[in-house]
Amino acid sequence: MKFSLLLLSALGASVWAAPAFPKVEAVVPENIRAISDYMNMLASKVQESRGLASPPVCDLSKVSLPEAAAGLPPPSPGLVLKHIAIGRGTQNYTCDVSNATAVPQAVGAVATLYNASCIVATNPDLAGTLAKAAMHFNPSENAVTQQLVPSNLGASGVHYFKDATTAFFNLDAFPTWKIGEIPCGKNASIPAPVGAPKGLNNEPAVAWLKLLAKSGATGGLEEVYRVETIGGSPPASCRGMPAQFEVQYATEYWFYAK
Ligand SMILES: *[C@@H]1O[C@H](CO)[C@@H](O)[C@H](O)[C@H]1NC(C)=O
Ligand SMILES: *[C@@H]1O[C@H](CO)[C@@H](O)[C@H](O)[C@H]1NC(C)=O
Ligand SMILES: *[C@@H]1O[C@H](CO)[C@@H](O)[C@H](O)[C@H]1NC(C)=O
Ligand SMILES: *[C@@H]1O[C@H](CO)[C@@H](O)[C@H](O)[C@H]1NC(C)=O
Repeated sequence: MKFSLLLLSALGASVWAAPAFPKVEAVVPENIRAISDYMNMLASKVQESRGLASPPVCDLSKVSLPEAAAGLPPPSPGLVLKHIAIGRGTQNYTCDVSNATAVPQAVGAVATLYNASCIVATNPDLAGTLAKAAMHFNPSENAVTQQLVPSNLGASGVHYFKDATTAFFNLDAFPTWKIGEIPCGKNASIPAPVGAPKGLNNEPAVAWLKLLAKSGATGGLEEVYRVETIGGSPPASCRGMPAQFEVQYATEYWFYAK
């Protein structure tokens, strides 16, 4: 304490004479912050892992859904966690353009899925900052390399809607991993936790979901959770919106199988 006071007073003259720099927080755009948070955490995890005797084991049998998913029904007894993907894409909405107070209607989503099983199993916080950083890269950059920019996570599937109420996940779409396909419908929904990361236009994160397989699932796939959502929500009303529009989102999908 004495020392720091002394140091302060010794530095005093030059410190107080220094020009007033703008506050860093005020000038770093959100996209740069998200990417640098990810890079910094990645660097510190790499540093930590140097101290390990062996590489971290990617064992999904020991991994459970995030605590905030407790508001959803748990995975059914007898199912095992088969795969965790980061999904990056768009939520689609429609609007009644003749009615400014109408509410946008969700009409499905389109996303590419990236194999995040090991990163979530070993570093869930790193997976979260990666998804946040990935929001700020155009998904077309991922398409070129079939990897989630800015990481080397490989594409493990695609997600779209078969009809208004049938979400479809094709985890056989890429050569590297053949995990199965699952058409599914909503079983339960809870709002994303308070403080969930906002999207590119500062919109709230879409709900967390539990989905159940409809007939036609393969690979033993039975249940899917959407958790750790980022962005993707529509504006509160249709005022000024076109008849159809997309909102960028990212999330984690957890797949349970027999
Ligand atoms: C995902 O990637 C990891 C390596 O990072 C691999 O061990 C695992 O088998 C992959 N596939 C699935 C289905 O998670
Ligand atoms: C406009 O949308 C609001 C909210 O959905 C609804 O209550 C109202 O009836 C709609 N008006 C017309 C003219 O459709
Ligand atoms: C959700 O699934 C549980 C079983 O896992 C079932 O008891 C419940 O009725 C389902 N609810 C809906 C709305 O589908
Ligand atoms: C919505 O999703 C479809 C794929 O199902 C996509 O082709 C379309 O471009 C998306 N956007 C809009 C605004 O409809």
